[in-house]
Amino acid sequence: MGNIINFAHRGSSKICPENTMAAFRKALEQGATGIETDVQLTKDGQLVLIHDETLERITSGTGWVKDHTLKELKNLDAGGKFDSAFQDERIPLLDELLELVKDTETIVNIELKNGVILYEGLEQKVIDRVRAFNMSERVVISSFNHYSLVLCKKLAPEIRTGILYMEGLYEPWEYAKTIKADALHAYHYAVLPEFVQGAKTSGMVYHPFTVNDVKEMQRLLQAGVNGIITDYPDRLAALLAAK
Ligand code: G3P
Ligand code: CA
Repeated sequence: MGNIINFAHRGSSKICPENTMAAFRKALEQGATGIETDVQLTKDGQLVLIHDETLERITSGTGWVKDHTLKELKNLDAGGKFDSAFQDERIPLLDELLELVKDTETIVNIELKNGVILYEGLEQKVIDRVRAFNMSERVVISSFNHYSLVLCKKLAPEIRTGILYMEGLYEPWEYAKTIKADALHAYHYAVLPEFVQGAKTSGMVYHPFTVNDVKEMQRLLQAGVNGIITDYPDRLAALLAAK
């Protein structure tokens, strides 16, 4: 089980506010070997890590992420709604996460949040930062927007891409090959052992999301997946250590 990637979904997002530096640091402490995060663009073109396109659920702000400058976003509390102990947490830049992990072996799964909002230039900006940190070999770019993944592959063939999907794709590994993707980031219930074996014959890897139940983690490991995206990296780390 040594090479299974333990991806912390938005960091360790059940005990820290999601997509904050506290959540990323905690995930590493808990044995995560990968970090999953969501990236969007600010009004002034900066890459920030936040899942929702709007600010209300997570932060002290209101409105769209895209309508605020980095300076405005950095003034918001991104942790207090989770727990007042985290009220000093801020929305991080992608650079802050890359800086945290650059001297480790951590894999970073950067999800491009370009479904509701089509962020012009998002792909190139992400690629530029990944290259600037010399981390092309340790990044997987994923998205539900597969046009975006095609563009990423054209711009940066050396960076792996993973298709995000919910269910119902017939032989998704064959489809993924047609867009030169490297990984299948599937909703976990859509992952059956025969699919994992099919993917392996195509050299494709499975990283199902978001798996929080230990029995479901065990089922997927038994099926032969290559990584699991979880809100509980501690649970997965314990499971992998026991194998
Ligand atoms: O990358 C897996 C998962 O994060 C995709 O869904 O909505 O949690 O970003 P979501
Ligand atoms: Ca995500």
